[in-house]
Amino acid sequence: MLSLGASCDVVAIKFNQEQKEGVMAERLTKSAARNIFYGGSFFFLVIFLILGIDSHLYIKNTSTDESTLTESVARGKHVWERHACIDCHSLLGEGAYFAPELGNVWVRYGGRENPEGARMALKAWMKVQPTGVEGRRQMPQFNLTEQELDDLVDFLEWTSRIDTLGWPPNNAG
Ligand code: HEC
Repeated sequence: MLSLGASCDVVAIKFNQEQKEGVMAERLTKSAARNIFYGGSFFFLVIFLILGIDSHLYIKNTSTDESTLTESVARGKHVWERHACIDCHSLLGEGAYFAPELGNVWVRYGGRENPEGARMALKAWMKVQPTGVEGRRQMPQFNLTEQELDDLVDFLEWTSRIDTLGWPPNNAG
């Protein structure tokens, strides 16, 4: 009887050990967790870089026209930034929603059909602000020079040619 009891104990201990080892193998070891962390981070970093480079090339070669990115367009962008037009306006959806979207203002003013007319109208608009019309939101007077106004219009014209895949859906923007 005694020896039977002892061998029963041995069997029980062995069984317990096997069970423990089985559980151990299923659990994540520290090094496996580390490998997954580094491997995963590296994998997604590579994907992020590929997508970043792809977006950059798409913007440079497909959605915008670098060959028409003149000095005056760049100067116009600086005028735009110096006077914080974005504090009231949005440009291609980015910015404030107090005043009209200006990414397509060139198209709205008929610049595609009559570029000279649109240029004159846009400059005249900026010169006569604020209108003081009761009940209308007002745009301040920035006292811009002819050169600054022309640069701004060049910037707005160039921006209107960015391929936004049809956004905004209508001219009112
Ligand atoms: C304090 C707010 C404010 C700032 C800053 C501002 N605007 Fe405006 N802008 C307006 C408002 C309001 C209107 C619309 C007024 C109206 O329709 O009577 C407007 C209208 C315009 C329009 C005509 C849009 C259209 O569809 O008819 C142009 C162009 C324009 N702004 C250009 C600019 C430029 C360029 C700057 C920066 C130099 C600028 N705005 C800064 C408030 C602002």
